[in-house]
Amino acid sequence: MKRVDDFRLKFGKKEVVPIIIGGMGVDISTAELALEAVRLGGIGHISDAMVQDVSDRRFDTEFVKEKTKFYKHNIDNSDKSSVQFDLGRLAEATKLHVGRTMEAKRGDGMVFVNCMEKLSMNSPRDTLQVRLNSALDAGIDGITLSAGLHLGSFGLMADHPRFRDAKLGIIVSSVRALQLFLRKTARLNRLPDFVIIEGPLAGGHLGFGMDWAQYDLATIVAEIAQFLKTEQLDIPLIAAGGIFTGSDAVSFLENGAAAIQVATRFTVANECGLPDKVKQEYFKASEEDIVVNTLSPTGYPMRMLRNTPAIGAGIRPNCEAYGYLLDGNGSCAYITAYNAQIVIHPDGKNISVPDKTCLCTHMRNYNCWTCGSLTHRLKDTTHKLADGRYQTLSAEHIFKDYQFSVDQQVALPI
Ligand SMILES: Cc1cc2nc3c(=O)[nH]c(=O)nc-3n(C[C@H](O)[C@H](O)[C@H](O)COP(=O)(O)O)c2cc1C
Repeated sequence: MKRVDDFRLKFGKKEVVPIIIGGMGVDISTAELALEAVRLGGIGHISDAMVQDVSDRRFDTEFVKEKTKFYKHNIDNSDKSSVQFDLGRLAEATKLHVGRTMEAKRGDGMVFVNCMEKLSMNSPRDTLQVRLNSALDAGIDGITLSAGLHLGSFGLMADHPRFRDAKLGIIVSSVRALQLFLRKTARLNRLPDFVIIEGPLAGGHLGFGMDWAQYDLATIVAEIAQFLKTEQLDIPLIAAGGIFTGSDAVSFLENGAAAIQVATRFTVANECGLPDKVKQEYFKASEEDIVVNTLSPTGYPMRMLRNTPAIGAGIRPNCEAYGYLLDGNGSCAYITAYNAQIVIHPDGKNISVPDKTCLCTHMRNYNCWTCGSLTHRLKDTTHKLADGRYQTLSAEHIFKDYQFSVDQQVALPI
């Protein structure tokens, strides 16, 4: 019987254990978590979501304070279109976050950074260009393009000296999205080094509509594998979403995937950035507690726990401090929804915004409990302690369980 450890993900001569811990913003997939994957010979992701805030927390910088001070005059203005990011500061924060992570790297694995296109930051092209190139400057091993079609993203890096040597890949949820990406990047004569295929059971934003339940990861992987074969393209495929055991992983590795990307199991790792209190909520969740809704201002459906504090909250938009989701015109669906409530309740008190959520502030404060669809099984991966809490696990334990387990078994911690 095969185990994940019988397989390797190959990038030219470089071989890694085919387990990738997915990017989880905002700083849920911490550098510590990613570095454990690297030490164990796999791939770990950090995320550049809200990188200025992450840098402030990691390195005591004051990027957020500085930006808030600069735009203080606008805080009571319902129009946020004037709030911009200073590109120099954005580069600095990205280089710090990525650079310090790379300096701490030990072991044979690799560190990638997850870059979401939907973080349009009131100037989509310029800010994405700075984020991507700064990560390359800081020595990142690879970049995973996510949350968007990224039709121009390779072009934004094409002049960087590391454009052809760093591992660059994209997350897609359909063969059509991949075809579009390949068509748009063809002129650069540079294929992606990997393609992550994320199915409908993943955490975070979904690359599907609210009809997500009609799709199935194995089918999409087979379709994309067939497309690449027809086109005679040799690109490693990485399956993601709902892969809960080593045996689940092996079935993908035996059917056309070169690696698997996982996240949910690691949300309860000691090294994961979620506060302990939130990890306990993930453990406690039952299947009925896991919902997919349209509260994210990005327009993508998002999976989260039903008791997420972010749901229905009516906090004032905090774009002067954050503003990561402002589109190219300086608007965000949460601001629109919030302003509509202000018209009804002009005093601004006891506001509840039912249809959208302020993702920046809530993700930053770990109050948006996004999760994968198999979160309700986390309780079966550990011990319940005498006080009713569940024991969190080391990332090493979870990683090795994926790597070595057979027969749908999940090893409990000691
Ligand atoms: C808490 C959480 C946050 C996530 N955040 C992101 C993110 O910021 N960007 C992204 O591309 N994917 C995100 N994902 C998706 C994961 O990277 C991964 O591809 C997916 O969840 C794998 O499925 P699994 O959770 O069933 O193992 C997130 C997943 C979880 C559970």
